[in-house]
Amino acid sequence: MVELRLPKNSRIRQGKYHQAEKRDGNLKLFHVYRYNPDAQENPRMDTYEVNLDECGPMVLDAIIKIKDEVDSTLTFRRSCREGICGSCAMNIDGTNTLACLKPIEECKKDVKIYPLPHMPVVKDLVPDLTLAYAQYQSIEPWIQTESPTPPDRERLQSLEEREKLDGLWECILCYCCTTSCPSYWWNSDRFLGPATLLQAYRWIADSRDEATGERLDELEDPFKLYRCHTIMNCTNTCPKGLNPAKAIAETKKKIALRQG
Ligand code: SF4
Ligand code: F3S
Ligand code: FES
Repeated sequence: MVELRLPKNSRIRQGKYHQAEKRDGNLKLFHVYRYNPDAQENPRMDTYEVNLDECGPMVLDAIIKIKDEVDSTLTFRRSCREGICGSCAMNIDGTNTLACLKPIEECKKDVKIYPLPHMPVVKDLVPDLTLAYAQYQSIEPWIQTESPTPPDRERLQSLEEREKLDGLWECILCYCCTTSCPSYWWNSDRFLGPATLLQAYRWIADSRDEATGERLDELEDPFKLYRCHTIMNCTNTCPKGLNPAKAIAETKKKIALRQG
């Protein structure tokens, strides 16, 4: 069998071991990916002992505790700490998820934390999402209309029309789904990936939007949409319980219907 290895300068080496100050308690080990582009060194895995008796219940609590008390150079994104901003997305124990929604007690053994996979790393747990954001911008994620706005009220929807947006508007653009998709790993230059495609469908499904035809024209492309091969990692990993694979299938159906 062919053995595939990372290039020499990408191989992860063993890093530092940080003991907890108070070791007579409920200790848990956190192995955390560290990479500093300025250091000209290979990435490494640092290990931190965390006393869970003095720590909040979520993986994000442990990472914040490490940064506050042990190693202020540890770099990660976070803001809301309640699953709303999408910034604390990372790979925890092999699954892309939000650190603020991941209970430590769900991690049965040592906790292993990496940045979202297959993205360039800015530093430690911070992936470079420049391309993903540009792809999001490319679908023009705002309402587009030609008819004049009613002067005295909003553009209305029936309850049924509004319900069609459920399962779509809740997306927080954390990119857990996109970075779990093997097709995106290999085709990210042209395939939009599940997060952006779910967002594209959010506007296609909106009864108030009047650019549906143009939106479908844009996606009727061999790469942007059709590189989805229904692998389903996206839906399985979404920490908000959404179903990007379904949104992609609905978009394909709409294109097929108008092709007759
Ligand atoms: Fe995150 Fe889910 Fe939206 Fe994907 S669909 S970006 S996993 S919230
Ligand atoms: Fe990828 Fe999800 Fe399609 S994992 S291939 S976008 S169903
Ligand atoms: Fe906002 Fe986790 S900190 S989603």
